[in-house]
Amino acid sequence: MDPTQALKSDVVPATASAYLDRHYWDQRFAQEEHYEWFKDYSHFRDLILQYIKPSSSVLEIGCGNSQLCEELYGDGITELTCIDLSPVAVEKMKERLSSKGYKEIQVLEADMLDLPFEDECFDVVIEKGTMDVLFVDSGDPWDPEPVTVSKVMAMLEGVHRVLKPDGIFISITFGQPHFRRRFFSAPTFTWSVECRTFGDGFHYFFYILKKGERSSDNIELTENIDVPSINLFHDELDNEDYLFRIQIGDM
Ligand SMILES: C[S@@+](CC[C@H](N)C(=O)[O-])C[C@H]1O[C@@H](n2cnc3c(N)ncnc32)[C@H](O)[C@@H]1O
Repeated sequence: MDPTQALKSDVVPATASAYLDRHYWDQRFAQEEHYEWFKDYSHFRDLILQYIKPSSSVLEIGCGNSQLCEELYGDGITELTCIDLSPVAVEKMKERLSSKGYKEIQVLEADMLDLPFEDECFDVVIEKGTMDVLFVDSGDPWDPEPVTVSKVMAMLEGVHRVLKPDGIFISITFGQPHFRRRFFSAPTFTWSVECRTFGDGFHYFFYILKKGERSSDNIELTENIDVPSINLFHDELDNEDYLFRIQIGDM
């Protein structure tokens, strides 16, 4: 058997709710060195570089064992802080970055539902596949469980708080606009909301939320997108993780 396949089946949980459990992530990261959720940087590099300057201070939420921060660093964005709930992910990320000489990147154990940062301290906050974890037990995606709603709102309120007045939140996800709108466009937030897509066949969503740019005529999600109908049996899904398959099946 292909050793990669053996490792993959070892880390896929029995139920999707495991993704909400820190111990699941600890066990997974203890044995898995690198896994890139959705797509790697090369697929959205051109998009992301439109919104991040080399001088930007950037917070990545739920870094896992992704190479996103290294790729950003390679593109000259050096003021980077990564957080993850899993202490195993954090320790392994620290070791990896240190061994590669990326000593300026800060890596901290922290909960995205209770961000340990001062108000208005980051130019950009990025998450890739991390907010999706909060939706694994959400019930009806059109009417998520109250516990899901309160967690997602806690996360977004924290992100909004730590962003500078003109800061940008970038959310990379398979969560479609009709399921994200109620959260991103909640009245408490001052950000404008735009959605772009990337990927061949199945499209991933790249949301850009610009703090301080919401106006009365900009309260709806701007869907600058051309979303194809989803083929649940698209080949690409075979290479994705269980979280991804569960969510697509739920929609
Ligand atoms: C689906 S993975 C995405 C990892 C990475 N961003 C990527 O693109 O490959 C979700 C990550 O979020 C982390 N995570 C889960 N709940 C979290 C929380 N409450 N606060 C911070 N990180 C969390 C997990 O440990 C895991 O690393």
